[in-house]
Amino acid sequence: MKIKIGSKDLGIIVIPCFQSSRGIDFFDKEKRKDIKEKSKEEANFYNFEAKKEETILLKVGNQKVFLVGLLENYNLEDVRRAYSIAFRKILSTKENSVLFEVPNEVEETVVSVYESISLSSYKFDKYLSKKEKLNIEISLDISKSFSKCLSFYSKVCENVKIARDLVNENSDVVVPKKLADIVVEFAKKNKLNSTVLDEKMIKKEGLNLIHAVGRGSLNPPRLIICEYLGDPKSKEKTALVGKGITFDTGGVNLKPSGFLEDMKMDMGGAATVYSVFKSCVETNIKKNILLVIPAAENALSGNSYKPGDIFTSYLGKTVEIGNTDAEGRLVLADAISYVSKKYSPTSIIDVATLTGACMVALGPTLIAMMGNNEVMKKGIFDSGEKTYERVWELPIYEEHRDLIKSRFADIKNIGGKFGGAITAGAFLEAFVPNGVNWVHLDIAGAATTSKESYYLSDFATGKGVRLLVDYLKNN
Ligand code: BES
Ligand code: ZN
Ligand code: ZN
Repeated sequence: MKIKIGSKDLGIIVIPCFQSSRGIDFFDKEKRKDIKEKSKEEANFYNFEAKKEETILLKVGNQKVFLVGLLENYNLEDVRRAYSIAFRKILSTKENSVLFEVPNEVEETVVSVYESISLSSYKFDKYLSKKEKLNIEISLDISKSFSKCLSFYSKVCENVKIARDLVNENSDVVVPKKLADIVVEFAKKNKLNSTVLDEKMIKKEGLNLIHAVGRGSLNPPRLIICEYLGDPKSKEKTALVGKGITFDTGGVNLKPSGFLEDMKMDMGGAATVYSVFKSCVETNIKKNILLVIPAAENALSGNSYKPGDIFTSYLGKTVEIGNTDAEGRLVLADAISYVSKKYSPTSIIDVATLTGACMVALGPTLIAMMGNNEVMKKGIFDSGEKTYERVWELPIYEEHRDLIKSRFADIKNIGGKFGGAITAGAFLEAFVPNGVNWVHLDIAGAATTSKESYYLSDFATGKGVRLLVDYLKNN
């Protein structure tokens, strides 16, 4: 779906308005003054008050006008929400062209309007026998000078939708090899170096944790790496590491019914970092970035790894398996140590649907953040507020590290009943080399939603993509 810049009055004109002491009020009173005055009279007649998210469709002469209420001192998320409501309602009218006025022409407002419309247009309809075609011409009534800015965000939004598609797609389709093929194809198209380690090479290199997690499946594991050097003069390099468990049965510690059904989403971290990386490449961000995806299926079979066993990680630390369902930290640990050794990143950001405990701690929508670098954490926190992909920091203290001590090995992959999101973070921390900046983002809750809401569609949200693109762009 294309969103153009234009000012021609189309089938419907969407006009944002607010409730003031004088009644319905408009942000730009001069533009379409006549239409606005008449709309106001008409809307008053129908007791429309321009309350937040209130909408009304009117006819002024021959022109259809759609009013949508915003607060006078709105924030960016208010804008996204109001425009997504307007857009969805207009889609249901079957109108074939619509022009959106914006509350003001400040870049972040315009971007929010754009993101809202673009992301609200997403629908995972691959498996529906009846697909609805989006046949609607959409224009934003803004200055042409925004075209470069919108071209940036149109790429980001398309990549958010790609992340959603990957998470929504069947686990039989998105297998580790498929993730590798997607990255290799992207690398070829953009002349980037990529490396894929297959199961044999994973074993040979001593990536025993990735091997252990992946060995029970008919879809063998991969370690996928791709490098983008957007700032070759700089010594700085950020590795984006995404958990790519294409299905998480729990393994021998099998998940019960009720906990399995959504587990095709367990590659949400991989989908996020791929889309962030793709956005950076396509918009030529001046940064050196490594994409790293340890991909495996945590399956249950006669060849599955088992609780109680001890494996030697790529780093050399031995790991006792307390629970085969705590597999994400295992594949991430090996991936982090491997790229640290082979590519020497100065910073690492890992993104993972890592723990159910993350949702117990912070609720179903927030992203849990842990890490060793205050500047990075502050930057990511600020991007979270701006993009409304909000993060909240959890601490890692010595008493948390104590919880993952093992009787027979150097470390254990579970920490007991309490603080599960933190003990998972503490486990990853043990594999981050000294001196490397590191942030861990647990998106277990944020990656999906149980119902469509505003510009989020049912199930995959793509959350984390806009967050990290904003962070990398501004830091
Ligand atoms: N993939 C899950 C975490 C998860 C749960 C993500 C629900 C999204 C929704 C992860 O691999 C897992 O199973 N974690 C266990 C860890 C436990 C065994 C220590 C958990 O959170 O229960
Ligand atoms: Zn698991
Ligand atoms: Zn998992």
